[in-house]
Amino acid sequence: MRLEVPIYLALVAVTVVSAQINYQNPQFGNRGEEECCQEYCYFTDVEPYIQFATKTAYESLNRKSTGAQHIVPDCTPMQFWSLNRHGTRLPKATRIRELRNLEKIQSEIVANYEQRSSYPNRGRFCIEDYNILKRWRWNDTITEDKGFSLTQQGIEELKILARRYKSKFSQLLSGGYDERSFFFQYTSADRTHDSYQAYIEGLFGSDAFRVHANTQIDNRLMKPYEDCEAWQKNEADNQFTRTEYERFKESPEYQQMVRDVFRRLGFKYTLNASIVEDIYDMCRYEKAWYLNRHSPWCVAFNKDQLKLLEYAEDLKYYYESGYGNRISERIGCGPVKDFYDRFERTVNGNSDGVRATFFFANSDTIQTVLTALGVAKDYNPPKADNYHTQTSRNWKTSLIDPFAANLVSVLYQCRGPEKFKVMFFLNENPVDFPECSVGLCNWSTIQQKYEDLVRTCDVEEFCSGRSSSARVLVSSFLLTISVMFLRW
Ligand SMILES: *[C@@H]1O[C@H](CO)[C@@H](O)[C@H](O)[C@H]1NC(C)=O
Ligand SMILES: *[C@@H]1O[C@H](CO)[C@@H](O)[C@H](O)[C@H]1NC(C)=O
Ligand SMILES: *[C@@H]1O[C@H](CO)[C@@H](O)[C@H](O)[C@H]1NC(C)=O
Repeated sequence: MRLEVPIYLALVAVTVVSAQINYQNPQFGNRGEEECCQEYCYFTDVEPYIQFATKTAYESLNRKSTGAQHIVPDCTPMQFWSLNRHGTRLPKATRIRELRNLEKIQSEIVANYEQRSSYPNRGRFCIEDYNILKRWRWNDTITEDKGFSLTQQGIEELKILARRYKSKFSQLLSGGYDERSFFFQYTSADRTHDSYQAYIEGLFGSDAFRVHANTQIDNRLMKPYEDCEAWQKNEADNQFTRTEYERFKESPEYQQMVRDVFRRLGFKYTLNASIVEDIYDMCRYEKAWYLNRHSPWCVAFNKDQLKLLEYAEDLKYYYESGYGNRISERIGCGPVKDFYDRFERTVNGNSDGVRATFFFANSDTIQTVLTALGVAKDYNPPKADNYHTQTSRNWKTSLIDPFAANLVSVLYQCRGPEKFKVMFFLNENPVDFPECSVGLCNWSTIQQKYEDLVRTCDVEEFCSGRSSSARVLVSSFLLTISVMFLRW
């Protein structure tokens, strides 16, 4: 008893002293100056982190492609199929309004910096970073009425992409346009139409005006989550459960990142975390719009913080339209069935003559299709509480679904026992399935892998809610009964 009193007094004394230290260094919160944010200067970093999840600029990706993987010895490309995400775009209208408010945050940061010039520098941004952020202005050509539209950079991305594919698969894609050999379709959105327009200009140049797209816009195939009752019901059912994305944003490491960012920007107090998301968006959008420039807003983050923000985004998509949503595969099967049926007709010798097929859609379509195909799957699912074990995860939307993401499948005719082979390219890199050989799959392997998916694929029926749950229930009931009988 007597011993405890001095210990208690000592604790009080320590608390009072440390409270005073904090009071003297309010910008460093509860940690000492030495522990505060890592020293980092974005401006002088020759290799800044540019993986910005689904808002990554396509051209900033470091493609592994040597440019020759599409050449397969003893094989000739017979048919080309592609699914393209639209290129770099502007944010939606309401987001443009929100991001414009960063002008206010910027002036607060400038005030913070000017007032605090005598404060220790550690953890704050370097003078170069401060200077580029100070000079930032909102680009007045970006107005709310342009929400969601493709940028000039976005148009270039699709044009250049088309030219690269044309030179790689010249047997199929050059030689001019003719209606029977080419099939084009885009979803009902300006940004996918404009991406299509840029792509055909890349393919056919001044001849592009002759191109006909399939005007019977079939959103069930390329945008099935819209008007899909089953998808919306799933979302409604889950709206009261906290998602992994939300849980990650409440995690200690995310909260710490938010505090550190505000501290780096000279704020004494932590503001609403949504401002960090605004700054992140501005940083990654500007990087994609003006490819060869620094975005002044990127100076707010060091590399580790950008990786954390990227992970939050990956979690969001993983559980929305990736493997974390059991419905993804059910609606992503549509495009898989489309190329499978087309290739199968060619393999069976009754091709309809279409050599090349092109779809233009959105990020969710890319992700649900990759999920249906089994691409970028992780053995250990990314979760809110396993960030540190996920640094080499396959589900990195920066790499699989940047602006202008593209999935290509090519049917080859070959000499040898397997007459037909298929190769997939994701963002121009071969997709390396374990069942295949350096990306090249026997047609029989593709059949084994996807036949069930394709045969049971009925997005129309699934979305209208007529199928699935009810039928799964009935069939599992019947299965139970038959198992009971068998046991008997
Ligand atoms: C503003 O955006 C336009 C395109 O909308 C671009 O051409 C121009 O370079 C931008 N200006 C600045 C200062 O970034
Ligand atoms: C933070 O901002 C978001 C979006 O502006 C808002 O919905 C939320 O209520 C704010 N949170 C707090 C704690 O003020
Ligand atoms: C493809 O098929 C051939 C002949 O049927 C077989 O020898 C080869 O191992 C198969 N390759 C792969 C990657 O499955």
